[in-house]
Amino acid sequence: MIARVNGIDLYYVAHGRGDPVLFVHGFPLTGEMWNPTVERLSNRWSCLVPDLRGHGRSDVSDDATMAAFADDLAGLLDALGEKRPVVLVGLSMGGYIAFEFFRRHRARLRALVLADTRATADNEEARAKREATAAAVLTQGSKLVADSMIGTLFGPATSADLKAQWHAIMSRNPPRGVAAALWAMAGRADSMPLLTQIDCPTLVVVGADDAITTPAVSAEIHARIRGATLAIIPDAGHMAPVEQPETFAAELRRFLEAM
Ligand code: MLT
Repeated sequence: MIARVNGIDLYYVAHGRGDPVLFVHGFPLTGEMWNPTVERLSNRWSCLVPDLRGHGRSDVSDDATMAAFADDLAGLLDALGEKRPVVLVGLSMGGYIAFEFFRRHRARLRALVLADTRATADNEEARAKREATAAAVLTQGSKLVADSMIGTLFGPATSADLKAQWHAIMSRNPPRGVAAALWAMAGRADSMPLLTQIDCPTLVVVGADDAITTPAVSAEIHARIRGATLAIIPDAGHMAPVEQPETFAAELRRFLEAM
């Protein structure tokens, strides 16, 4: 389905009935990454899964920022008439967007799930690398990013088939959208000072073999958020919900049911 939000067409899927849970994918992925989770939770929760601007089937826009991504989510809730506060589940870049959503739309948030993410901003070296990659993607295509990420995205237990499927999805994302997201991530704020201000129920969840945002990074986030829960998913890397859908969904369900 398509909703007109902030001047662009945003693609989303909505499944199930119950309290609303909004799923935000990582970079350079699509809402498809949440299919295995939504399948398991939509009997009890209303699951809303957008493709972020510049990703999947949503429109491309060159002016992506974390603020624009967060405002698109709020705009999507408006477009759907969803006034209830949502549980926002964000993976990696989706977590960076979750922090921005907390800053800008706190009243719309019931709880946070920070999956395989980090709260720090990029340092100068990381920022320069993102900018160089963005320039290269615009001339060489998104496969360049898929090639460079595929080795670290998944844990050692994950099948070659699953990796190939996600390599293809990443490669299909429009280069302008991928470049805009790289710029947006390079410019994102440091969310470490925000962590002690987070005052909603929070689950921090990470794949035990996540090589991009390691369990140590999640443990640090967990330690700073008052009352947060930490869950480590065995035999999963950075794509924990895709790699271990049953365990990931069980942790999420336990958290949602305890709220
Ligand atoms: C992601 O999965 O969203 C990315 O690894 C985030 C990043 O590149 O910082």
